Amino acid sequence: MYKINENYLKLQDNYLFSTIAKKLEEYKSKNPDKEIIKMGIGDVTRPISPSIIEAMHKAVDEMKNKDTFRGYGPEQGYSFLREKISKCDYKARGINIEEDEIFVSDGAKCDVANILDILGNENKVAITDPVYPVYLDTNVMIGTAGNFNKEKGTYDNIVYVPIKAENNFVPELPKEKVNIIYLCLPNNPTGTVLNKEELKRWVDYAKDNEALILFDSAYERYITEANIPHSIYEISGAKEVAIEFRSFSKTAGFTGIRCAYTVVPKELKAKTSSGEYVLLNKLWNRRMSTKFNGVSYITQRAAESVYSESGQREIKENIDYYMENAKIIREGLKKSGFVVYGGINAPYIWLKVPEGLTSWEFFDKLLEKKQIVGTPGVGFGPSGEGYFRLTAFGTRENTIKAMERISINTQELK
Ligand code: MLT
Repeated sequence: MYKINENYLKLQDNYLFSTIAKKLEEYKSKNPDKEIIKMGIGDVTRPISPSIIEAMHKAVDEMKNKDTFRGYGPEQGYSFLREKISKCDYKARGINIEEDEIFVSDGAKCDVANILDILGNENKVAITDPVYPVYLDTNVMIGTAGNFNKEKGTYDNIVYVPIKAENNFVPELPKEKVNIIYLCLPNNPTGTVLNKEELKRWVDYAKDNEALILFDSAYERYITEANIPHSIYEISGAKEVAIEFRSFSKTAGFTGIRCAYTVVPKELKAKTSSGEYVLLNKLWNRRMSTKFNGVSYITQRAAESVYSESGQREIKENIDYYMENAKIIREGLKKSGFVVYGGINAPYIWLKVPEGLTSWEFFDKLLEKKQIVGTPGVGFGPSGEGYFRLTAFGTRENTIKAMERISINTQELK
């Protein structure tokens, strides 16, 4: 009999957002007349802006002409896009990231999962808790996470670094030595951030312990405050210890178009078991050439147009729109007596669930009493218990309506 990857059997139930979708479908089938407001998965609702649509149309037209038709593109991404990323996202901020350190892909979710292809499966991995579930699940899949401890709700080989109100959402450095650290900043799910000094402590830890930081900055465009790093490479020495993941999904509404990129600096060197140094950039390049055929030309032209003057103006308008929603949610919840976090540098609002309720109990109440879907904090890890996430990616109308529903008879939720 053939063998399966039995690590998959160690995964807990379903992927968080699939579980929520299933619960929602059940509720809808029993209550077909109810109007539901979705504030669960962080999916955008604003349409793709005009400059991007125009660039896509133009690229489609090029495909019908024999002189401009494109077949396979470079696996790492077209130079026209990598050059824009290097110039606008990094060099403009004083960070020297070259084109050949940038790898264009079809999503940050895939990249944070696929990066494990080039890392060994004996690493000690640290994740913040709560955390975007992909980091943990993909480590379970390759066997690094170990076994699940039902009582604790944690995997034996993972180092969980709590982020909660008690520590002001600033994760403490691990007491034990870890090799791989996942950081998502601005943070999903809590919507909180670290300032430069706080992030520098992690870079220094990684240097001192020869660890690698996997830095997910999918939400960097949502930062509104000064002294909050947009890229980990704003911290001196970070190019020697960090890989950065970025996405056009939340920045330019590409959740359905699919485009992202990963930065693997050439300074990043890993030591083999025989003591030789190997460039991670070279390994990732090899992985992409073998397993990936590049993002479609049309999509990359769309991503390129994000960097045009009109593209930048338009995406900012959409981001401002979502951040205004975030403000409406924060203020609405506070008025209704909730304690809230996040929503200032990120499109996520993290609220404390009323005393005595679990986060899944609050999920059920919010759905049944107010027809609002959110995400239970515990779905992101044990330290998320007692919290709940709402996204600001809805329409203005629904955001206002949701806060109105919560403000009327709020006690039904307690
Ligand atoms: C979320 O809701 O956490 C995100 O939308 C999920 C994702 O980006 O994959």
